[in-house]
Amino acid sequence: MQNRVDVLLGLQWGDEGKGKIVDVLTPEYDVIARFQGGPNAGHTLEFNGIKHVLHTIPSGIFHGDKENVVGNGVVIDPIILAKEIKALEDMGVDVNARLLLSRKAHLILPTHCVLDGASEAEKGKMKIGSTLKGIGPTYMDKTGRNGLRVGDLFEEDFAERYEALKNKHLKILSQYNFEFDIKEKEKTWMKSADRLRALTVIDSEHYINAKVKAGKRVLAEGAQGSLLDIDFGSYPYVTSSNTVSAGACTGLGVAPRRLGEVIGIFKAYCTRVGSGPFPTELHDEAGEALRKAGNEFGATTGRPRRCGWIDLPALKYAVMINGVTQLNMTKADVLAGFDNIKVCTAYELDGEVIDHLPYDAVTERLKPVYETLPGWKTDLTGMHSEAEFPEALNNYIAYLEAALETPITIVSLGPDRTQTIVRKAVAAS
Ligand code: GDP
Ligand code: IMO
Ligand code: MG
Repeated sequence: MQNRVDVLLGLQWGDEGKGKIVDVLTPEYDVIARFQGGPNAGHTLEFNGIKHVLHTIPSGIFHGDKENVVGNGVVIDPIILAKEIKALEDMGVDVNARLLLSRKAHLILPTHCVLDGASEAEKGKMKIGSTLKGIGPTYMDKTGRNGLRVGDLFEEDFAERYEALKNKHLKILSQYNFEFDIKEKEKTWMKSADRLRALTVIDSEHYINAKVKAGKRVLAEGAQGSLLDIDFGSYPYVTSSNTVSAGACTGLGVAPRRLGEVIGIFKAYCTRVGSGPFPTELHDEAGEALRKAGNEFGATTGRPRRCGWIDLPALKYAVMINGVTQLNMTKADVLAGFDNIKVCTAYELDGEVIDHLPYDAVTERLKPVYETLPGWKTDLTGMHSEAEFPEALNNYIAYLEAALETPITIVSLGPDRTQTIVRKAVAAS
């Protein structure tokens, strides 16, 4: 029987714990595939006392018998990918045997990163807070039909095409008052491109569809989060790709009717890194306590993450846009320090109560309306089954399931692979 492609994606502003949960779910699947984003992502896995952060490579890479695909919707920086490969090989992972790249994935050039920096500097106070990995400029070249793709690395005239695109970028950069020197970086880029040439390069749309047809199980791993989506996120403070489930169709070449489970992952509270609206952000000791207990510092940039309470109108929106069929909640353990937990159920905008994110979610004018629920004040990190859960946690789970009209199938209680409680089977069929 033909299988379907399940999708796991973030429902907030990224860093929901996608890497950890994909690693936990990988034994249920044959192929793990990234469909959008690039090295702006930082997906953390922890097992056997090892902590590892992946940026481009799917989070199934540590499982020997699985294939990991970087789909056409992803943008790749050869330098970062080559570094990631090297780190994995140093750990004994046979990357060549487990990693496949789409020849249609676009390449991030050193000048894309410079353009990112110049654009942010120009924006001043209005800056996006980009990770400066060249994501925006690379997707601009993709939609502007100027981009270079993995498949181009194998063309005889690659060097000329590289120079032509670089020169285009240099012309644009001459309009900015922005200093840069990419000479050394370019050398490393060229060497790294050779490492990519030694990988298996495929037509990932044919590959994935053939797998599904043969009854194999495929999990599409999202990057960033739904509120960073280019269309549905808090524009312009977003990333440059479709992070929502529809992105898995265009980023892998999978038809909408071939999607199966849509697993939406969220933190038991909320974080955001970079600029932009965040209605439930806490600027007090509670926010500081969340940052400390949750170790909320960016996996890619090390920046402190902004922290706040869970935002139900935003989550409901993400559930709707993605067609989420099941939820995974992470970092329940981090809330253990609180007597009470707040849940944002609506917003007040200019004296009126609204239950959805407005067009321009200007935080200063948007006041969250909270409901207060009892906290659990219990260390969850060593628990092995749901039967051990304190009543207040069960209440929190039941409250969220009712509000979001979707079952919570996994509750994560710590960063390690083993600190995971599966409440209901996750994979479809
Ligand atoms: P991703 O981008 O969605 O993969 O998430 P990140 O790796 O950027 O950030 C999630 C962080 O939380 C990482 O440091 C994880 O190791 C950690 N983490 C994941 N799940 C849990 C959890 O249930 N509890 C705690 N305390 N940490 C977690
Ligand atoms: P993962 O996959 C959290 C944020 C940046 C910035 C905005 C645009 O680890 O969840 P970009 O580099 O795309 O130009 O940045 O998006 N951002 C993320 N925040 N997690 C991520 O990825 C992110 N990727 C980008 O901080 O605000
Ligand atoms: Mg992350």
